[in-house]
Order: sequence, then structure tokens, then C-alpha cells
Amino acid sequence: MLDAVVAISSDLNLEAVLRRIVRAAAKLSGARYAALGVLAPSSTEGGIQFAEFVSEGLDQATMARIGQCPHGRGILGLLISEPQALRLHDLTVHPRSYGFPGGHPAMRTFLGVPIRIREQVFGNLYLTEKEGGRDFSPRDEEMVVGLAGAAAVAVENARLHQRVSELAVLQDRERIARDLHDTVIQRLFATGMSLQGMARLTDDVQVGDRIQGAVDELDDTIRDIRGVIFALQAHERGEQSVRVAVLMLAGEMAPTLGLEPRVHFDGPVDAVIGAKLGEHLIASLRELLTNVARHARASAVDVHLRVGADISLTVTDDGVGFEPRDAPGHGVRNLHRRARALGGTFAVSAGKHGGTVASLRVPRDAVEASD
Ligand SMILES: Nc1ncnc2c1ncn2[C@@H]1O[C@H](COP(=O)(O)OP(=O)(O)OP(=O)(O)O)[C@@H](O)[C@H]1O
Ligand SMILES: [Mg+2]
Repeated sequence: MLDAVVAISSDLNLEAVLRRIVRAAAKLSGARYAALGVLAPSSTEGGIQFAEFVSEGLDQATMARIGQCPHGRGILGLLISEPQALRLHDLTVHPRSYGFPGGHPAMRTFLGVPIRIREQVFGNLYLTEKEGGRDFSPRDEEMVVGLAGAAAVAVENARLHQRVSELAVLQDRERIARDLHDTVIQRLFATGMSLQGMARLTDDVQVGDRIQGAVDELDDTIRDIRGVIFALQAHERGEQSVRVAVLMLAGEMAPTLGLEPRVHFDGPVDAVIGAKLGEHLIASLRELLTNVARHARASAVDVHLRVGADISLTVTDDGVGFEPRDAPGHGVRNLHRRARALGGTFAVSAGKHGGTVASLRVPRDAVEASD
């Protein structure tokens, strides 16, 4: 028992801890079967769903036959709606008994306890078929209540950890936005100024043009970063932001692509693109980037999201190029369908310098129509 309880404070993951607890409960009480279910946070009285479910005593083949974890309709639901220990000589004759799914082994003797801390019920821990056909004893009950207490602490611990890491990400966002604004933009701005100063020192037109080009690029970068800051702050306020979603998807796809896509925004992206259209664009971008990863063998990928007279999402790669004879697969067909549904168009073509350009274009008023 101590072993199972101590496991909680080790760095094992939640499932491993719960498994130990179930195993200890089965072993210490002499039960043939034991199981532990942790309720999903979204569970309600009527619809119980388990976020975690670990069991002991059933072999793989039987588990495969029975299928998914229990729905918590019969006696398991009772343990949650009326959270107290329950010892039964024959669970099949209990008025709340719901019956077993096909292929389920016979079970009669039963000991079940809720997993809870104070008033909050996290799930249940239950045992069946004590060895020798005997009933579970009050001592068994005491021991299982203790283990259920340990399980409750483990679950609460895991949820707190999760919450803390979410908070850390939020605080990170704020810090990143501040750093970008206070340090990065200022530095880029200063660099641009000194470059402009240098341009005045030269009579060479070509050098002057090159410097001006660099200054323009810095201006673009500053605009992009401002946009990112704006998006981070919007995200902070709990607002949906396409900009953040695009950046996050680009980051998420980087390992698959083997490179970091460059992302560019143009125009009032977050102000114009609503949540619904945002979802369409993100789904499209996911397919386009997946295609680059699967077919292009590219060494650079650019994503442009522009809001002007209309809205366009363009993915450009420098890969092997698109063969117009290639039969469109589901991906391309869906992109055409999606574009049409939004009153726009989708096109794939060869890039000017090789590679592929894929572009989805929808009218600005598709926004309201789709929202
Ligand atoms: N970025 C790209 N570079 C080169 N070829 C591409 C690119 N994108 C698409 N293709 C070509 O176009 C074809 C059709 O793409 P599409 O997304 O419709 O199908 P798919 O990716 O093969 O399969 P799926 O239906 O799973 O998306 C691809 O099989 C590929 O030959
Ligand atoms: Mg595809």
C-alpha cells in the first residue's frame, strides 16, 4: 500500500500511478478483477465519461472483446451520484445493475468506492470476485478507501500541474510581447535609421538602392512583429486570432517539413477574418503545408496571408514543382470545394523560379456569409 502511495510523489505519469494503485488494491484484497476510472472534467450526472480507465485482471483478448471502458450507467454511476463505499454479495441482483456487455466475464462479489477529495468526486475504484468466492470484508473496504484517497491526490496533482503549465505559457506570451516591443522593434528601428544615414553618405546609386532595399525590408519586419504583438495581446484577452493560429500551425508543421516556414501577414488580418473563416483558412493551410512536406522536397516555404480587396492565403515552396497532369487527390479537391463554398477560388501553379504556388482567394464578404 505504501508503495502505491509513494508512487504519487515520484515523477511517474498519472496513468502509471493509477495502475499501481489498482494493482495494489487487487493484490491486497485478493480480488480477481480491479478497475479505476477517472471522470473526464466534462462529465455530467447523466453522461459519464472516463478520462482515464485502468483495469487489472482482464487479459488482452477479453478486453478487446468487451470494447471500450464502461459507460458508468449501472452501479458505477451510483458510486458517483451517491459517493459512498458499496459492498455487495452479488452485484447482478442489485436494483441498479445494468448487466454486462457480451464477452464480459461473470462477476458477483463487489467492492466499490468513490475517488474523491472533500465534495469533489474524481471517479471510482472497484474490485470484483474476491478469491474463494468470499465477500469483501470491512477491512478490505478500509484499505480500498485509503487507496482511493491516494488516487484522488494523484489526480488532483496532475490537474494542478496541467493548470500551472498553462499559466506558464500565458505568462510567457505576455513576456514575449513585451520583449518584442521593448527590445526587438527598437533595435530594428535603430538599425534602419543608421542604414538610412549611411545611404546619404554614398554617391553610388546602386549602393544607395541596396541600402534602401534593406531599410524597406526592416520596415516590413517591424510591421510583422507589431502584428504578432497585437495578436499575442489579443490572445491574452481570450480573443481568437488567425494570426496566432497561423503562426502556431507553422511552428507545429516545422518538424514534418524539416524547416521553419516563413510567415507573412498583410493588412488587418485579425480585424477582418472571423472565427469561422479562420477555421477554413487554418484547415486549408494544414493541407497545403502537408502537401509541401509530402510532395515538394522543398528547402524553403513561405506562407502569405493577405487582407486587401479580398483575402488570400498563399503557400509558396521551392520544391520539385507541381505537375498539372497530376491527378488531384482529396486534398486539392477539398480545397477547390472549400473555396467555392466561400465564393472564392483555389489555384495551384508552377512558381516563377520553380517550385509550387498554391493560393486560396475568397472575397472579404465571405467573412460574414460564413460566420
Ligand atoms: N507543394 C507541392 N509540390 C509538388 N507537388 C504537389 C504539391 N502539392 C500537391 N502536389 C501534387 O498534387 C497531387 C494532389 O495533391 P492532393 O493534396 O490533392 O493529394 P495528395 O496529397 O496526394 O493526397 P491527399 O488526398 O491525402 O491530400 C499530389 O499527389 C502531388 O503530386
Ligand atoms: Mg494532400
